[in-house]
Amino acid sequence: LAILSVSAALGFLPVQADIFGNWKAPSATDVRSPCPMLNALANYGILPRDGKNITEEDTIEALGTALNFDIELSRTLYGFAISTNPTPNATIYSLDNLGRHNIVEHDASLSRSDAYFSDPSVFNQTIFDETKSYWTLPIVDLRQAAMSRLARVRTSQRDDPNFVLNEKFGLTEVALFLSIIGDYTTATAMRSNLEYFFENDRLPIEFGWNRPLTVFTSADLDAMVQRVAQATEEVSGEDSRLRRGCRKTAKQPG
Ligand code: HEM
Ligand code: MG
Repeated sequence: LAILSVSAALGFLPVQADIFGNWKAPSATDVRSPCPMLNALANYGILPRDGKNITEEDTIEALGTALNFDIELSRTLYGFAISTNPTPNATIYSLDNLGRHNIVEHDASLSRSDAYFSDPSVFNQTIFDETKSYWTLPIVDLRQAAMSRLARVRTSQRDDPNFVLNEKFGLTEVALFLSIIGDYTTATAMRSNLEYFFENDRLPIEFGWNRPLTVFTSADLDAMVQRVAQATEEVSGEDSRLRRGCRKTAKQPG
């Protein structure tokens, strides 16, 4: 009781403070994925640190405890995860399974190379620098988030002869980082927090990030995906108008 009163006076519960208290970089034998969030959860030990043999229960528990994910949404995501295990009818997955190309992992990622060029699981600073170049303000909004993904798609379309578009997952990942690293209602995120998250596989706790206060459901995710899709349509229209303008200018003599 005394401990709880002290904790309450300090404004936190020991249990909550604790789950993010032990971040460690992966060891040489630990496996990781193309997903910065699952990697981060493994680095905290909220998922198994070795990244191996993860169960449905582990997934539900980790996403619920760390991110306030609804059980049904966690089940759906777990379903995608086990679909990447090469063993038929598997009920567990390892984080390195997730890097198998064109199952869930796809081209035009925000922070990873296309599989055609190099391992799509590992963070790639050059790729992420391209993404970040569209985040020109300290607060990244829906428009800049959508623009950065669209730019990555266009670059891959141009450069990767094996390019395959996976719009659904691409939009979902933008929806996830805005909702979970940023703020669901405003669909914005602090640029510095996004950079910290992607570049370190770590949650920006030290910079004021907190576990979302309300439960995050499939319906919430779907609604955010719609907002990102809408924003993508808007910036894509804007961009083609701009390009038409450029061509017209270029044709003018002198
Ligand atoms: C990317 C799986 C949960 C955020 C990915 C990728 C996979 C994946 C396979 C690689 C896609 C690609 O870029 O080629 C999963 C699974 C999850 C899960 C199986 C749950 C069991 C989450 C959560 C978040 C998240 C909760 C919340 C922020 C992201 C982001 C990317 C991503 C932002 C894009 C990375 C990039 O484009 O470089 N995820 N993920 N994921 N995931 Fe997850
Ligand atoms: Mg990828």
